[in-house]
Amino acid sequence: MDLSNISFLFLIVITLTVGGILFTGVRTLSDEQSLENAPRMREYTEEFMTRFLQGDVLNRTRAQLIADLRNRRFLPSLHSKTERWPFGLIVLGSVMYSGKDSVLFEVATDDILLVKYQADCDAVRMNTIHPLMTDYWYGKAAFDAGVSPRPLFLSPPILFRENSGKLGTIKLGRRRQEQCASEGGAVRFMILTRVINSETLCDYFSTKALGKPRFLLAMGVGVVLIKKLRILHQVAQVVHGDIHMKNILIESYLKKPVRVWVIDYGRARSNSPAISKDPIYSSQGWYHPSLTHWQMRGFQWAARDDVYNALRTLAWVMNDHSYNDFEKELTTIDRTSLVPWRESMFIFSVPNGYDPIAILPISDDRKRLIKRSLNHILISVRSLNDVDDIPDYDFIISELQNCFRLANGM
Ligand SMILES: Nc1ncnc2c1ncn2[C@@H]1O[C@H](COP(=O)(O)OP(=O)(O)OP(=O)(O)O)[C@@H](O)[C@H]1O
Ligand SMILES: [Mg+2]
Repeated sequence: MDLSNISFLFLIVITLTVGGILFTGVRTLSDEQSLENAPRMREYTEEFMTRFLQGDVLNRTRAQLIADLRNRRFLPSLHSKTERWPFGLIVLGSVMYSGKDSVLFEVATDDILLVKYQADCDAVRMNTIHPLMTDYWYGKAAFDAGVSPRPLFLSPPILFRENSGKLGTIKLGRRRQEQCASEGGAVRFMILTRVINSETLCDYFSTKALGKPRFLLAMGVGVVLIKKLRILHQVAQVVHGDIHMKNILIESYLKKPVRVWVIDYGRARSNSPAISKDPIYSSQGWYHPSLTHWQMRGFQWAARDDVYNALRTLAWVMNDHSYNDFEKELTTIDRTSLVPWRESMFIFSVPNGYDPIAILPISDDRKRLIKRSLNHILISVRSLNDVDDIPDYDFIISELQNCFRLANGM
């Protein structure tokens, strides 16, 4: 037997570092050679952390890395129908949602649980942390304050690969997926409680609220939503950063709405003073319809953005799809034209749709008073010129209640 050929058959023990976790595995020599060129998951090195992270996020990231080590037995297993977590084995059911870089599964063995998988492709590029870390930490704080469903467990990360099993239905294009894999993107999963009998605000208004007075519903949702945001900002000490129709759940009981939940904390941050009073992001590329004019200008998102985005959500509810269509139209003409729309226009009725206040079956005087109240709310929120200014929640709530009364003929 030629002994020189035996070497590649020898098993060697190698140690690799994956996301700061040490794994010892058994590999052949040829495996080892190919590993040299294989992409490595982005590491949260001390240099990365001190350069790009600070304050609450830095502390929580350090704690998460220790938790990841402790949970190293529970790495995502992307090619099986099951997943392990500290409470045993769970069997996944159907996919309930596929997003750009995330997939949510029902759990076949427990209908009050959901599993959310997510890749951090954008975060790797932007030198920020994995969005499920943020979702888990700040979702927990929001749960403690009664605003969010409960996040129960966050898995440690594994390297992202294109078309990888459970993440096979994400909407990220193939090229971006390949780039993500080569840039060291990572996949984690989070287990959270499911709000049974719930729909996003978007689905609720497209199905259950058909034929119902949208303006009254919008005012009702508005009051609850602003109250939730006040609790989120002041009790949980969390800024959500991404308030829109699909991140608000309406829970129903016997077909009646009973509770509003705020979900998806992937862009949240601690409600502490902003890093800077000036813009911290380059404004290019930030003209997304779900952002406020302050976010588009590059300011760090803050309580004022959540409240403004809640008002925009109400505008959507009142106007139905014509609101979205109008914003899309604006952005196709010129992406920056969203800024003056947000900054100075009456966003509660759009030029190409019906006027939700004009169609109310009430007197012209009442319609004028409603418009005045809504204008006062816009002025109050738009005057939050400093990134750390605190919205006047009580004023907004009482004006929305006033609009409800006027529209309801009370
Ligand atoms: N706890 C929950 N209970 C019931 N449904 C939920 C829950 N969490 C999420 N969902 C459903 O899954 C969808 C996606 O969830 P989520 O917003 O957390 O994912 P995402 O990937 O961050 O979304 P996107 O990035 O597209 O905004 C929600 O719009 C909602 O329909
Ligand atoms: Mg979402």
